Amino acid sequence: MKASAVARANIALVKYWGKRDEERILPANGSISLTLDGFTTLTTVETGPRAPRDELILDGKARGTDTREFRETVSRFIGLVRHEAGMLDPVKIVSRNDFPTGAGLASSASGYAALACALNEALALGLDARELSILARRGSGSATRSVFGGFVEWVRGERGDGSDSHAVPLAGPDHWPAFRMVVCLTDTQEKKVKSRAGMASSVATSPFWGGWLRCVEADLEAVRHGVASRDFSLVGATAEANALKMHAVMMTTSPSLLYWNPRTVQILQAVREWREGGLECYFTMDAGPQVKILCIEDVSPEIRTRLSRLPHPPDVVEASPGEGVALTEKHLF
Ligand code: PMV
Repeated sequence: MKASAVARANIALVKYWGKRDEERILPANGSISLTLDGFTTLTTVETGPRAPRDELILDGKARGTDTREFRETVSRFIGLVRHEAGMLDPVKIVSRNDFPTGAGLASSASGYAALACALNEALALGLDARELSILARRGSGSATRSVFGGFVEWVRGERGDGSDSHAVPLAGPDHWPAFRMVVCLTDTQEKKVKSRAGMASSVATSPFWGGWLRCVEADLEAVRHGVASRDFSLVGATAEANALKMHAVMMTTSPSLLYWNPRTVQILQAVREWREGGLECYFTMDAGPQVKILCIEDVSPEIRTRLSRLPHPPDVVEASPGEGVALTEKHLF
């Protein structure tokens, strides 16, 4: 059967960095994110005799299914789903991102959320939203959060089997429609060190790893509270500080993970200057050189004007709170 789903990227306000179980993708810490209204993945899957073997076409290009990367990622995920469904048929997947893949823009989050949702339908797995977020988590940790819209917490969980490590919606997209992320694209090449490998090496080698874990609970509590009370200063300041703590862990990993480029630093410094001058905005960053500026709707035009006047202006996409994953009749084949 054929099914299609659409999912959106999410950007963490309190980051997930490090696993307590590599195989089940169980995080060492909880995280909170915002699902965006742009940065969309549309995925169509088909199973059954019409698909001769597993196949992946991503952004119009057939991806090699005999590579190590495919075996360790998509193929592993399809294997899990097949096991759950008790079926052996091959799966054809066609997926399209409306933004650059693998550049620190959470394409794996929207990608695996859309894939899990489409497979749930095509294979009649009958998973509810919580179970779907557990399945998406097995593809990519952050995908667990893209199952829901708006502000979402991924609860760390305690159990070894991962059954209590899933996303919980904190506040839907209508709770705070004025919240904005101005995404600044400084370089859209695929990153050299993917999050999965990067975080494993941080856990193993960064001397700051323990410090990171000790800080996260307080950041989660602050952001939960800030979202519930729409306290922008609290959410923004906590998110910026949390991102810097994660990047301190990344930089002190061996070999060091430095995702910043000169344009990145230019924007980080500008955000701080603008804020000191009274324009309230904060930044966050993930495992890539893009900067996401957090602000409230009425100041975003001014931020965009100032970004365009920087010596090396980035491409900019503005996003508001968006919806969670959903099925669609818009099939890609
Ligand atoms: O889900 P992954 O393996 O792509 O890891 C995402 C890690 C960060 O984007 C850096 C942080 C986060 O919480 O999204």
